[in-house]
Amino acid sequence: MPSLFSQPLSLKKELKISDQEFAQLRDFIYTQCGIYIADNRKYLLENRLSNRLKQLNLKSFNEYYYYLQYDSGRKEELNRLFEVVTTNETSFYRNPPQLTVFQDNVLAELLKSLRQAGTRKLRIWSAGCSTGEEPYTLSIILHEILKTELPSWDVKITANDLSERVLMSARRGVYNEYTLRTTPKHLVERYFERDSEGNFRVSAEVKSLVTFGQLNLSDKVQIKRVERSNIVFCRNVIIYFDDEMKQRVISAFYDNLFASGYLLIGHSESLHNISRAFRPMHYPGAIVYRKEE
Ligand SMILES: C[S@@+](CC[C@H](N)C(=O)[O-])C[C@H]1O[C@@H](n2cnc3c(N)ncnc32)[C@H](O)[C@@H]1O
Repeated sequence: MPSLFSQPLSLKKELKISDQEFAQLRDFIYTQCGIYIADNRKYLLENRLSNRLKQLNLKSFNEYYYYLQYDSGRKEELNRLFEVVTTNETSFYRNPPQLTVFQDNVLAELLKSLRQAGTRKLRIWSAGCSTGEEPYTLSIILHEILKTELPSWDVKITANDLSERVLMSARRGVYNEYTLRTTPKHLVERYFERDSEGNFRVSAEVKSLVTFGQLNLSDKVQIKRVERSNIVFCRNVIIYFDDEMKQRVISAFYDNLFASGYLLIGHSESLHNISRAFRPMHYPGAIVYRKEE
């Protein structure tokens, strides 16, 4: 009979990560994607990767470190590792006060100046788009603002993430009710179809403005390939980076933006001590950053 204090079988052989192995893996993750794992999150790697190491028949985290660098399956394994270290939490109409400022101020002003300049080309970049709720929200807002005028505009929302898994889900565009909790009801009715399982399928017109692709924000070459934007959304992404990586990414956004372009970051994020190249514009409930010439 197992004693009351014996561990379940699955926990018995839990692989431990030493401080040295942790430091090695943490530095590797940082160079691969810019995500910095603090010491107090060592358990996260240990818990989440231990079973994976067993599946791969590896005896230690040191062996795993070499596997990630030299095994023929390293590319696939790196994607799995990204999934372990990223937080993909998101929702439609996330941070409504910021989106109101976006709609009433940023977009209104930008559309006006584009019209005055005689162009109808608009480019938005959603960097770190997770499962697609953010770029689809932006597409809904554009449909609502431009209405029947939309077909005469050349609008493209480029949506990127590090994780292939979230991008697959984004392309599918099927969501549960919880992720729509802050979305106005009339917009849910207008832009989603309810399927037989009670899920919400985003409409083809909303999808049509959005192009998804994998991109690593720590890869300069990949970033340079992104088409230039009028607006960059990068919300709740840089929070996982250290200051050096934040500076690199924000400077890449600066280079990507057209003159006087806008940058919107998460409400708990700031460019303080990161960049002086943008002018903060304060609105009730949101700060928007504008590219200074
Ligand atoms: C918390 S989600 C934010 C989603 C959405 N922007 C929002 O605010 O709701 C953060 C996303 O950033 C992505 N991410 C983290 N590091 C990245 C990197 N180096 N390159 C691209 N995406 C990254 C993660 O995979 C994750 O899906």
